[in-house]
Amino acid sequence: MTGQDNLTFDVLIIGSGAAGLSLALRMPPDVRVALVSKRELTEGNTLYAQGGISAVLDARDSVDSHVADTLTAGAGLCDEEIVRMVVEHGPDNIRWLFEEGVEFTRSPPTGDSGYHLTREGGHSHRRVVHAADATGHAVETTLVRRLDTHPNVSVFEHHIAVDLATGEQQAGERPMRSCHGAYLLNIPSGRVIAVSAHNVVLATGGASKVYLYTSNPDVATGDGIAMAWRAGCRVANMEFIQFHPTCLYHPEAKSFLISEAVRGEGGRLLLPDGTRFMPEFDERAELAPRDIVARAIDHEMKRLGIDCVYLDISHKPAHEIERLFPTIHSRCLELGFDMRREPLPVVPAAHYTCGGIKTDREARTDLDGLYAIGETAYTGLHGANRMASNSLLECLVFSDVARTDILDRLAARRDPLPVIPPWDESRVTDSDEEVVVSHNWEELRRFMWDYVGIVRSNKRLERARRRANLLRHEISEYYGNFRVTNDLLELRNLVDVADLIIQCAQRRRESRGLHYNRDFPDRDDNQTAPTILIPDNYVPRQSPD
Ligand code: FAD
Ligand code: SIN
Repeated sequence: MTGQDNLTFDVLIIGSGAAGLSLALRMPPDVRVALVSKRELTEGNTLYAQGGISAVLDARDSVDSHVADTLTAGAGLCDEEIVRMVVEHGPDNIRWLFEEGVEFTRSPPTGDSGYHLTREGGHSHRRVVHAADATGHAVETTLVRRLDTHPNVSVFEHHIAVDLATGEQQAGERPMRSCHGAYLLNIPSGRVIAVSAHNVVLATGGASKVYLYTSNPDVATGDGIAMAWRAGCRVANMEFIQFHPTCLYHPEAKSFLISEAVRGEGGRLLLPDGTRFMPEFDERAELAPRDIVARAIDHEMKRLGIDCVYLDISHKPAHEIERLFPTIHSRCLELGFDMRREPLPVVPAAHYTCGGIKTDREARTDLDGLYAIGETAYTGLHGANRMASNSLLECLVFSDVARTDILDRLAARRDPLPVIPPWDESRVTDSDEEVVVSHNWEELRRFMWDYVGIVRSNKRLERARRRANLLRHEISEYYGNFRVTNDLLELRNLVDVADLIIQCAQRRRESRGLHYNRDFPDRDDNQTAPTILIPDNYVPRQSPD
């Protein structure tokens, strides 16, 4: 960390993935920025992104087509205005990444952009720009390197945000809630510091660690969603958790992802006896949207009592597999599978949080001065199911719109920032029962997988709700009595997020997109509104929607 002496900033960005980093880099040099990451700066979902970023980069493709595909994948719940806005800004944002130094694959066949464009599920055109099969690594490491060029970004690595600092004041006739900073735990030292800022941005990523099996790294514990909810922000569409159809099935692989681009380039899904099954489920077969493919795999696994299905691309030339999928190929080789010659064992795993903190077109949340961007936000782009490679695009586009609004707010600011009271540690002691935390982590992630997974039912959701409530009480008591640690904070957030997922799932009395409930197996075209949860301390902004 640098710049610890002065803990007041113009912008406090919590999270250093594609969303947080791109916002930090886009701030003018005279704006004082704090950039916080709970592990090393590079760690987060962005680093592991494989397939690429979708954008209209070829004359045979069109904005209308990208919009239409996104709306179809989103199963009737996308906000079309937001979809169009994001899609229209795609090419500019790819250009920005290129100017920052991200090297995308250019080998043939390229479109007229000069980039190789791959295909993924739901896309009716080749429109996914990528850096081989390690797009996220290229984006994240390049942007982190670029931070050296910004004179005014103070980096806080290994600091986990505990909670937001908020206040309530009169704005004309009405009360208004606002955010003016956050408490951060310095993980190595165990000290909690208060950081004040005129603008606070949650760029904390998704929450897939709430499930036992996930493609996400350990940091994806939904901290931003839980903090915003506790602070009085509305949260939406949490029932739509995306399960990626193809993670490698291997005890040591920790759900290593096998990119959808493998299917985009011709990979086929097979049963253990070699039968192809996807054409029976959808005419788009392996390239149907993810909800359909993941559910089909789950159905076949349960029907046949098998542990996995297989993904086979060995019919393609070996040199093409090596060129397009070098990372996946070498990781699979390390684990004993040669994808050039044999099918890979795969299973679905929790992958992406389509819902999140409700934001408007400018990335503003319900609290004045608080923004949310990237996977932590619910913008209306993804609806009931995110189309592949639309997520990194959303991170980039919304960091840009947030930047504009933040600069307007900074130009208009008048009030000095309220002082944040120091963190009160007088009543807490070190825990002597760490097992409570580890046990509850395990229990939570298992019942979420078993009861709130790919296929749900009313009974399963009720069971899950009861367990989540019990855990919440236990953890809140523990939180009140013992000194905070990284694991305790993450667990507290995971339980809050689990409860939000279950509440949303219980409210949606139909099956649509990623949400499938056996008791309401059909889509109900009267239920086309997002599921919005309102916290007890919610105060509407000027024009409630
Ligand atoms: P992240 O990149 O997850 O970053 C979150 C940041 O917040 C981290 O720095 C973390 O340390 C920090 N943080 C979290 N909580 C706290 C806290 N309490 N205090 C301080 N810091 C905190 N999408 C695509 O569009 N294309 C793809 O090809 C693609 N492939 C994927 C492959 C994998 C394996 C995975 C897991 C995801 C993939 N996705 C893909 C999804 C996409 O990568 C993510 O949605 C996107 O990277 C999210 O970016 P983000 O900036 O919102 O969050
Ligand atoms: C993948 O490469 O399959 C992941 C793409 C995504 O999640 O958008």
